[in-house]
Amino acid sequence: MAKKPSKKNIIGIDIGGSGIKGALVDIESGILLTDRYRLTTPKPADPVSVGHTVKEIIRHFDYDGPVGIGFPARVIHGNVKTATNIDKSWIDTDAQKLFSGITGMPCFILNDADAAGMAEIKYGSGKNLNGLIFMITVGTGIGTALFADGILVPNSELGHLRMFGDIAEAYTSDAARTRINLTWKEWGSRFNEYLSYLEFLFSPDLFIIGGGVSKKFNQFENQLKIHARIVPAKLENQAGIVGAAAYAVNML
Ligand code: BGC
Repeated sequence: MAKKPSKKNIIGIDIGGSGIKGALVDIESGILLTDRYRLTTPKPADPVSVGHTVKEIIRHFDYDGPVGIGFPARVIHGNVKTATNIDKSWIDTDAQKLFSGITGMPCFILNDADAAGMAEIKYGSGKNLNGLIFMITVGTGIGTALFADGILVPNSELGHLRMFGDIAEAYTSDAARTRINLTWKEWGSRFNEYLSYLEFLFSPDLFIIGGGVSKKFNQFENQLKIHARIVPAKLENQAGIVGAAAYAVNML
């Protein structure tokens, strides 16, 4: 049976282009208290349909309380401002109001990479570290989260840097890897070009690599020849859920 939420057990939800995943998170340790529950992202993924999928996930856990939601776009004060890999009808939607209205729970929304980064800084590979840290999530798109001495600079959107006439995520996302059938070695050398570009611009101390590729880190790490330290996300692909839950608690 699903655990009853307390202030320290909060639901985190990660909205992606193909799946919407949620779990209850112990906010003190950053550990998942339940298995992840995943539903397919509805098609079309318009705001109301996605809102109902989120409601179904909350109901699955028999949960009542604040809800943290990571969303794959620029999110400013709960409003969605871009839609690269999601339905265009999201642009200018007040997602915080929409999700709270449909679910009947107080919902708090932030960019998905910012959520994953918050989890790594609070509980994972960036814990207790100062300096400039980049979290890079690699999936359908490339998400970035930038932290200076543990403080998030939100909505950095550096997957949209221009590379070879297009945005970087068209060149080196995981979707690009599968689309053109790159080996891990080939993809790793593309990703190295991207990280070198970020390093030239920002001189970070550490890169944390998250998203699905974090589990394959050992297959491409030899291609990464940058100066900064580079590590896989400790929370692997749970980071988005954990960080969203932590964000909801911060916003209470
Ligand atoms: C979006 C970002 C998002 C990233 C990962 C990009 O296309 O612009 O907001 O963080 O994908 O989902």
